[in-house]
Amino acid sequence: MRSMSKLILLYRNPDLPPFFLYTGRGPSSDALHLGHTLPFIFNKYLQESFKVPFVIQITDDEKFFYKNEQCDLPDLTKLAYENIKDIIAMGLDPEYTFIFIDSEYMGELYPNVVRFQKHINMSTLKAIFGLQFSDSCGKAAYPAIQAAPCLSSSFPFIFGSNNIPCLIPCGIDQDPYFRMTRDVCPKIKAPKPAGFYSKFFPSLQGFGTKMSASDPNTGIFLTDTPEEIEKKIKKYAFSGGKATKEEQKAEGADLDIDISYQYLRFFMEDDKELAEIAEKYSTGKMLTGEIKAILIKELQKFVKEHQDRRSKLTNDDVKKFLARTPKKFKWDEWFI
Ligand code: TRP
Repeated sequence: MRSMSKLILLYRNPDLPPFFLYTGRGPSSDALHLGHTLPFIFNKYLQESFKVPFVIQITDDEKFFYKNEQCDLPDLTKLAYENIKDIIAMGLDPEYTFIFIDSEYMGELYPNVVRFQKHINMSTLKAIFGLQFSDSCGKAAYPAIQAAPCLSSSFPFIFGSNNIPCLIPCGIDQDPYFRMTRDVCPKIKAPKPAGFYSKFFPSLQGFGTKMSASDPNTGIFLTDTPEEIEKKIKKYAFSGGKATKEEQKAEGADLDIDISYQYLRFFMEDDKELAEIAEKYSTGKMLTGEIKAILIKELQKFVKEHQDRRSKLTNDDVKKFLARTPKKFKWDEWFI
């Protein structure tokens, strides 16, 4: 993270255009896991560094189309509000952040949705998303809905009539939507969005498996207690260390597959300390139990701080983020 500051300085060049940040979340379960937090932490960092507006799409419609279980749209809209509290609790600034729920904001978004829909045909949807004739037409309509917030004209109360390009820091799995978006943009005379993708965040069991809210032992959730975090890391975090103490001391751990190290790569703030751990653990000067103890402490702190911030949030705080009011944007600084 620290090395990012240099990049920021480079970009703060008045010859380069301003931009806004866009990311999103599908409200599929009430408990967010650590992987869900990454794009928001990164967006917050960019927002604080550049002082640019940040828009967040909450796709209750998308999850309604894709969820098999019986649930009605209002159930997902309710989940959306719970998820918004978790997102806000990551420390976002309402003066710069606008959050919208698709089922509530569609009226504003719709002109740009139809502009995209006009240029997305069924063959494209089949090739990119694997859609079939048997799929609901809601699934076919949806990709344009995720594309529309890339255009600043979807948020006139923030950008007025300025045509500001968009940067999308998000998980790599969202790339198909934005490739499709970039293909269409020239056809509707809109600037192409740029993406900034984060790597796949592994489950406790290792890179081959996915974290899932239905199996709490696959990941660390923002609702976990300190005891649960300790138990899960000790019991489930896949180790790249050797089978015995002697072997570990002689050969060292394989960092690429070691989940404790991989999690620290994301959550340890201090790059220097991380490099020291990597050196010690990979050469056998550190044992699996020791790196796990470090990770447990880091995650307990991270989750506890999140829970403290979240517990203080009221519905009025949520409303500040949903309000369609102008956001701060340091225009003058960009152009001086
Ligand atoms: N499709 C995303 C999900 O399932 C939600 C989403 C909407 C999104 N717009 C986005 C994610 C923009 C990243 C960037 O979670």
